[in-house]
Amino acid sequence: MNTLSQEKINEIRNSVNIVDVISSYIPLTPKGKNYFGVCPFHDDNNPSMSVSPSRQIYKCFSCGATGTVFKFIMDYENISFLEAVKKVADIGGISVNIGKVTKKQTHTELHQIYDLSLKFYINNLNTVGGKEAREYLKNRNIDEETIKEFQIGLSLKHDVLSKILIKKFKPDEVLKSGLVGKNDYGYYDLFYDRIMFPLYDLNGNPVAYSGRIYNKKDNSKYFNTRETEIFKKGELLYNYHRAKDIARKKNQIIIMEGFMDVIRSFTVGIKNVIAMMGTAVTPTQAHLIKRMAKDIILCFDGDEAGAKATMSCSNELLKIGVTPKIIRLEDNLDPDEYIQKYGKEAFQRKIDNPISVMDFKLSYLKNGKDLTSSEGEAKYISEVIGELNKIDDDILKDLTIKKIVAEMNIDEDIIRKHLEVKPKQIPKPKTQMEIKTDKYEKAESALIYYMLKSPEVITMYNKKVTYIPNREYRQLAREISSFYKNFGFISEADFIDYIECDKDLMATIGKINKQNTKETYSLEEIEDYINVIRDYNIKEEIKRLTNKMKNLTDPLDKAKIAEEIVGLKKGV
Ligand code: UTP
Ligand code: MN
Repeated sequence: MNTLSQEKINEIRNSVNIVDVISSYIPLTPKGKNYFGVCPFHDDNNPSMSVSPSRQIYKCFSCGATGTVFKFIMDYENISFLEAVKKVADIGGISVNIGKVTKKQTHTELHQIYDLSLKFYINNLNTVGGKEAREYLKNRNIDEETIKEFQIGLSLKHDVLSKILIKKFKPDEVLKSGLVGKNDYGYYDLFYDRIMFPLYDLNGNPVAYSGRIYNKKDNSKYFNTRETEIFKKGELLYNYHRAKDIARKKNQIIIMEGFMDVIRSFTVGIKNVIAMMGTAVTPTQAHLIKRMAKDIILCFDGDEAGAKATMSCSNELLKIGVTPKIIRLEDNLDPDEYIQKYGKEAFQRKIDNPISVMDFKLSYLKNGKDLTSSEGEAKYISEVIGELNKIDDDILKDLTIKKIVAEMNIDEDIIRKHLEVKPKQIPKPKTQMEIKTDKYEKAESALIYYMLKSPEVITMYNKKVTYIPNREYRQLAREISSFYKNFGFISEADFIDYIECDKDLMATIGKINKQNTKETYSLEEIEDYINVIRDYNIKEEIKRLTNKMKNLTDPLDKAKIAEEIVGLKKGV
């Protein structure tokens, strides 16, 4: 499974405080013994995630997400367990040698095909045939270092890569990669004579290419790999893996339209940048962006298309409660051109002075309207009201209303009358969040909850509980009991790390943590839970025997079972 001992993993986990680590990702506020924040693992604006410093775990009362600091980082950053362990070790100042940390994605044949194709394209750029492409890049001010960092390559002839790939990999897989086609004459490369920009998945594996035309006229400037098993356009963001840590530290992420813009910005040292790659933002991407940083700045191309894209991207973000800030570039320039023309400092000033999304919308909506006519004015105002209804940010809403009132000389009450009243989301009291469960399930769940806290309860379980009716709970209880037998101690955080790979067990722990069981217990309560479980088993057994008896004909057999039932009933 992994090369680190359980002891080392525990040491690493104990070297940090989960509250400190999680609060570097999401804001937490103390409340009683625990800390609360908005859960990043489901759509929510309520602080339903609690982080416990004493238990060193987090749990969400709403979606049931739970785990240790490792699990949080794994899920938040989309990385493997070992990568998360390494991150925590770095924070805690513990040196670990896990060798080359394996990426989360299982290394499929398709990934190997991409790794090899990347080497091939990179090499092409340095051959005699790559002279013209090298000159093109030089003319665009893309230096050696940038070529290396972004692994820029070149495709040349029609069939060289296909020949290499077909020799090494299964033809089916090669065709699935989106790099090779097949016709009556055989296999051929789908990319040729294009500068190859690899596109990466969230973990930084190359999974596709965008090939730019450089030496001839063609009707498509960029040719992109079609969607494949490993390349889902709507699920990734260009440069995500390089930008995410930097964005988190700065608490700011800048979103651009094209990957050339990102490459330019990165090259001049502004590295908290990602690109949408010319498509509308999907909900998946919007959520990824939401998690990257608090300050989200859209810096799309300065042209009309860029303004339109800014509008639609803003709306997609507003839908999930993110209020972005906007940068507009003059003279129809895109960020790449702007940085080259005016320099890094001028661009940095733009970043430091973005406009609010509502200011952008006000000026966008004015376009093409004749505001000297009443019709034009009325249309403008009603469109502004439509936009006001999309934002949650009360302060920004208020400021915008004031602005439009002054600007259009209209009565504030009229605008307010047209605003939709959104019901304020009031955090539900915890008791309402408890899932409805019957008393049997509650007993099972509570028993296991306390088993995770105390060897005393595990011992009682070992002695007195023969069978937990619910299969999920049964498996979890057995696992806890055997963990204690093997390691001689129990700690919830250790146990969770131990079973982290087992999705079912983790889900059951999530379910149990969602029940909001109180922290302390008495031995009588434990006895009660055990009795409830025992009663349930007896009742079930009585049911089973009663059914069995119905199907019997021999009176002697019947009597025997009846006697058994009577015996059982005494126990209830
Ligand atoms: P742009 O046309 O703004 O690209 O398209 P760019 O960054 O300025 O590129 P250069 O400077 O001309 O080289 C933005 C994004 O849209 C996608 C690409 O992902 C590009 O980064 N696009 C654009 C395509 O996929 N195909 C195209 O033909 C054009
Ligand atoms: Mn450009």
